[in-house]
Order: sequence, then C-alpha cells, then structure tokens
Amino acid sequence: MNSKEPHLRPETIAITAGRPEVGADSALNQPISLNSTFVAGGAIGYGRYGNETWTALEVAIGALEGGKTLSYSSGMAAISAVFSTLPVGAKVVASDQGYSGVMTLLGNLSAAKKVSVKFVAIADTDQVIAALDGADLLWLESPTNPALDVADLPTLIKEAKTRKILVAVDNTFATALIQQPLAMGADIVMNSVTKYLAGHSDVLLGSLSTNDPAHYKALEGARRFNGSIPGPFEAWLALRGIRTFPLRFQRASENALEIAKRLNQHPLVTRVRYPGLPTDPQHAKAKAFMRGFGAIVSFEYAGDATSTDKVCESSKIVTYATSLGGVESLWERRRRWPIESASVPETLIRLSVGCEDVDDLWADIDAALLAAKK
Ligand SMILES: Cc1ncc(COP(=O)(O)O)c(C=O)c1O
Repeated sequence: MNSKEPHLRPETIAITAGRPEVGADSALNQPISLNSTFVAGGAIGYGRYGNETWTALEVAIGALEGGKTLSYSSGMAAISAVFSTLPVGAKVVASDQGYSGVMTLLGNLSAAKKVSVKFVAIADTDQVIAALDGADLLWLESPTNPALDVADLPTLIKEAKTRKILVAVDNTFATALIQQPLAMGADIVMNSVTKYLAGHSDVLLGSLSTNDPAHYKALEGARRFNGSIPGPFEAWLALRGIRTFPLRFQRASENALEIAKRLNQHPLVTRVRYPGLPTDPQHAKAKAFMRGFGAIVSFEYAGDATSTDKVCESSKIVTYATSLGGVESLWERRRRWPIESASVPETLIRLSVGCEDVDDLWADIDAALLAAKK
C-alpha cells in the first residue's frame, strides 16, 4: 500500500495516496476486496477486523489529515465509537448548536446516565474555557452545522490539552484542505466521509484519525466489536471520490462565496451566515487559522416556516434534500427535522453549494426566493 511522501500537498495526496504498489501489470486502483474471511496466518484474519479496500481509503484520509485513520460505516458510527470509549460518568463539553445527530446521541447517552454533557456556545471562547474544568472530552465541530459558528480551534485545543482533556474535532464542514486539527494538537479528528471526501451523494461512511496509538487501539476495538465496519464497495467509492476532492471542494467553495455575497444583498434574505463573508461575525476568527471557508451557506428567509419550505420546493437546479458535500447543490429548512436545535431559526435554510455554474445556480436560487413570496 502506497502512502507516499508526507510533505506532499493535499492536491497530490488526494490523487496518489492509497494506491497499490507499482509493478508490471499491477492494478492502478485498489480493487474491491469482497471477503468475509482471510486465510489464517496474516494480519487481517476476518472481514470485521480488516479489509484491503478499507486500508487504501484509510491511507488516503490519513495522509490528508496527518494521522492514522480508521473508517466506519457512517459518520455517526465513527462518532459513536469515540463516545463508546469514554468511561461511564464521563463529562463531555459540546456545542449547543452542533450537528443534530450528535446532540441527540449525547442527549440519549446523558439520559441513560452514561455521560454528562455540558452544551456551550462554541463560538464564545471564554464560555467554552469556563466549562472545561473537570471535563473528560471536548467535542468540537467547526464550522458548526447548520449555524456556521466557528470555534477558535487553536485556543480551545491548547486550553483543553493543558487540562489533559481529550479533544475530538468533527472536521466534516472544513475538511483537511482548510484545517488540520491534529496538527493543532487535537487527539482525534472525525469526518463524515459521506460528505466532501466521497462527494457524490452515493455512499455513507465515516472516519477517525489520530496519532495516539492508545486511542487508535481503543477506536479500532470499538469498530471491531461494535461491528460498525464500512462495506468494501463503499470504501472503494469513497476512495474514488477522494481523487477529485480538492478540485470539487475548491470549486464549490468559490461558488459558495459568490452565492453568499449575492444572498447578502437580496431583499428577501434577512441574514446570511458564511464565515468567508467579511461582514460575518466569525470571519476574523476563521481567517486566523483556516485556509478557506468551505461551501456551506446558511441564510434566513424573510417569511415564515411555510414560505421557507416553499423556497426549497421551488428550485429546479438546487435539490430539496438533506445532506451536503456532493457535486450537486442541495438545500433544506433545517427546522423541518424535529431533532434540530430550537435555537436554529425556523426560516434558516442550509445550502450545500455544489460545483454547478455559479450564474445558473444564482438564477435558480433567486427565482425560488421570489416564487415563495407570491
Ligand atoms: C457535521 C456532521 N457531522 C457528522 C455527521 C454524521 O455523518 P453521517 O451522516 O455520515 O453519519 C453529519 C451528517 O450530516 C454532519 O453534518
């Protein structure tokens, strides 16, 4: 398995990492290994313990994130693996406006008295630091889904590590292209590979990366015995997606900045959230440590929940669907989901900007905003 040189830039890593060794007639791409078991005497042994196609994907994500990587059956499976390694009664500090699936899972674990959770406003650095004393895990997601709040990662990671608190960062929105939390001192970085890394809305997968052998061992054990393993075909699809990930992410991010600027001027939009906008309250903080701002834009419609739903239903190019990070633009009113945080406004639309032509996208968005007003 070819992990290539560590000094290569992400654009090169995405294309070269996780390929088979080169030799006469060797395969260029890692084959899909469809095996539930392996002949005894080797390092894998059984299909729940390892798989060559997972390994190829893990090498590629690991090279991008700068840590040894494990893949899981979904982003939530990866997150669950982290929480499952905590001792009963562990104290977790997490965002009060993070991904609703994580907030729900933490709420359930807390109700079952497995952990206690302190939800904080992650963009308020002082508030997060004040919550750290006695914590076992700081779970950071930045930028957050869907509010696009930015956590001051370098400061918060340093403060947490000073107190010997485990730090995990959900890097799904930013990706390794614009921030590498492990290099900032985080213990674990998580990705919903479902999103930008795979990039074609055809696969669910997750990953965890770490440079600590003890964490790796515990997280590998959680996968092995919880059975939250990726399918080999899904791993192959994700690795194929990674080959174009930097190209897609860069194009989508450029589109997102332009769409955010235009939304910011639109009479039917009351507020735009995008850390790349100079007027965004998160901009200065984000600029200090991020190398870009990603491709998710959230905005509030000048109407009510019903007319905001109508905006999402009225578009022809942007699809009304949940999820994000694919080549195709998607949007939805986040509060249509009962588990979404009540602090997210009813009229907030989360737009995952894709790789289409930006003027075609804008014409579609503008027409949908106007159609819902009638
Ligand atoms: C920020 C973030 N983290 C984690 C997840 C969970 O990932 P998955 O859907 O792959 O389980 C999502 C899914 O939307 C997400 O947006």
